[in-house]
Amino acid sequence: MDTLTTIMERRSVRTYRPDPIPDADLARILEAGRQAPSAANRQPWHMVVIGEPELKRRVAQACNNQLWIADAAYVIVAAGNPQVTERWYKVDVAIALQNMVLAAASLGYGTCWIGAFDGEQVRSLCGLPEHLAVVACTPLGVPAAHPPARQRKPWKELFSRDRFGEPLGLEHGQ
Ligand SMILES: Cc1cc2nc3c(=O)[nH]c(=O)nc-3n(C[C@H](O)[C@H](O)[C@H](O)COP(=O)(O)O)c2cc1C
Repeated sequence: MDTLTTIMERRSVRTYRPDPIPDADLARILEAGRQAPSAANRQPWHMVVIGEPELKRRVAQACNNQLWIADAAYVIVAAGNPQVTERWYKVDVAIALQNMVLAAASLGYGTCWIGAFDGEQVRSLCGLPEHLAVVACTPLGVPAAHPPARQRKPWKELFSRDRFGEPLGLEHGQ
């Protein structure tokens, strides 16, 4: 799938089939994260790819009991190192994870950004060292459904031309 189609077709997937993901596809998705840009190319992240069923279940519990997360083939825990760059580490982790989310979507897999979690619990469950902070998680698996697109704010709330509040005047926006 080309990049723009992938962006438009990606959804937060909350129902998964139990099917496995071939290692070659998993590797492509992780490599997409590895190629992400980061401030001063510091790459201050570490992603834990959890496939063990019981561990997935316990991480899902630590994610506000969103137990459906554990139905996916993997749960990915995205952590960052604030000691490397206090200012940018969350942005860097987010860019890397979104690269992976889009790579997964382009290969037909589902993901869902998860921000509701107990960071200490998730960190200890996957054995992350103290200096790494959990930024987000996502399930990664074969979707059981393709959810409808969710509503987005109108263009005028999101974009301005030259100065705040000035309309863009684009044919397909407002
Ligand atoms: C930082 C962040 C945290 C999120 N946390 C959760 C979450 O804990 N549980 C959940 O079901 N969805 C979560 N979402 C998914 C959003 O609800 C979803 O992206 C939004 O409703 C738009 O839907 P879409 O992704 O299908 O376009 C999160 C998304 C982001 C970006």
